[in-house]
Formats: sequence, C-alpha cells, structure tokens
Amino acid sequence: MKKPKYKRILLKISGEAMKGKRDYGIDPEYVSYLAKEIESAHKTGAQIAIVVGGGNIFRGVAGSKHGMDRATADYMGMLATIFNAMALQDALERLGITTRLQTAIEMKQIAEPFARRKALRHLEKGRLLILGGGTGLPFITTDTTAAMRGLELGCAAIFKATKVDGVYDDDPAENPKAKKFTTLSLDHAFQNDKIKVMDKSAISLCRANKVHIIVFKLNEKGNFKKAVMGEKVGTTIC
Ligand code: GTP
Repeated sequence: MKKPKYKRILLKISGEAMKGKRDYGIDPEYVSYLAKEIESAHKTGAQIAIVVGGGNIFRGVAGSKHGMDRATADYMGMLATIFNAMALQDALERLGITTRLQTAIEMKQIAEPFARRKALRHLEKGRLLILGGGTGLPFITTDTTAAMRGLELGCAAIFKATKVDGVYDDDPAENPKAKKFTTLSLDHAFQNDKIKVMDKSAISLCRANKVHIIVFKLNEKGNFKKAVMGEKVGTTIC
C-alpha cells in the first residue's frame, strides 16, 4: 500500500467547523462526518494529533470585546475546546478508533493531562491523539497551539482545515477574481498581511522550524486523506 507523504501530522480543526449547519454549539451529525474523514486519513498509517478550537461555543476575544477580562475569557475559550475535543473523541470511538484525549488544563476525571512523552507514545502506537484546552495559557490562539504542539510532537506538517479550498491572494467571498495559490512560501505567508490563514505567531513558528502548513477544505469528502497522501489539495505553504 502507498505510504502517506507525512508520517506524523497535526490536524487543526476550528471550533466553527464543529457547529456544522447550526448557528451555535456542536452538530453531532457533522462531527460524525468529520470523524469518518479522519478515520480514512488515519487508515493510511499516518500518525495524527488533533487540535480543535472552541469558537462555536465561546471565543475569548469576543468576550473581552464586551468588557470581560481577557484572560478569564480566554480560559473559558479553552474550556470550550475541551467540549469539542470530547465530542470528537466520542465520534471517533464510535467508529472503533482507539483515541487518547489529553488536556492542557488538568481535569483528570475526563482526560489525561497533556504530557509530551506520553503523547508521543500514543502516536507511535497508532492511537489518534486529541489535544484539548489549547496550551492552557491565555492570549494564545488555537492556531498557535496547533503550531506549538505540532513542533513539540515532531509533526512534519500542520493540516489546517478551512471552509475554503486553500489560500487566495484576496478574500474569495468578496472578490470573485481572487486567485488561489497551490503552493506558497512560509516567508510569503508571514510577510503578506492579506494572508490570514493562520495568525502570525503560528506561521512564524512554522517558518522558523520549517514545518509545512497544508490548507485544505474539510467539507470535501476524501480531501483530508488525499492531502495526507501528498495529492495536490488546497494550498501547501512550505
Ligand atoms: P500505554 O502506557 O501506552 O499502554 O498507554 P495507555 O493510554 O493505554 O495506558 P494508561 O494506563 O496510561 O491509560 C489507560 C486509559 O486510561 C486510557 O484510556 C487513558 O486515556 C486513560 N487515562 C490515563 N491517564 C488518565 C487520567 O489522568 N485521566 C483520565 N481521565 N484518563 C486517563
């Protein structure tokens, strides 16, 4: 069987994705679809760690815009990511996949606390690793969490699942003439302020450590597996 292009990867799923067609919260039907997409990529033999956002439930930045203390709002956002991580774990395990959930904020009754060496062991054993609770620190986005965890777990690439099918030179929702990049350099992605696919600190970490970022649309069946196998899907930032 053909081997995946990337042996170990980190998948970043935004919290927004978890709400599927709903306005808020978690859409179990959509989460089941996500789980099937992840299952098919996992079957290629790739080791997969997942960082999930929490924007479908609570967003720290939005809370602070309404006068909340930013750190408190961010901690609430981190808890929201754990809701999503648990929903994803449940959907994956219903498919018979062995998973381990680790959280950056200790809540031992429901998940293992994040420990790098343990996380690596899970990946080496072929367990799907889900990471909840961001980094456990406020003022850090889940994109940056994805880059940081990706680096410390030795992932060759960060797979950023988005609503659009890659990176464009302008917003494709507003400019129908926007052009899609198939590849892009990490330098370009970092220097061009129009490219907002991940925040600057996440791109900067990947750039400094030569980790690829693959931006792809998760809503197209089979896309994630294709991207893991190295087929041309979305945009590769390398
Ligand atoms: P190996 O050491 O590689 O065999 O890993 P393992 O995860 O199978 O072993 P371990 O005995 O550490 O974990 C068994 C189960 O308990 C797994 O489902 C873990 O996710 C879970 N587990 C381990 N530590 C904790 C914890 O602190 N809290 C919770 N809630 N579950 C835990």
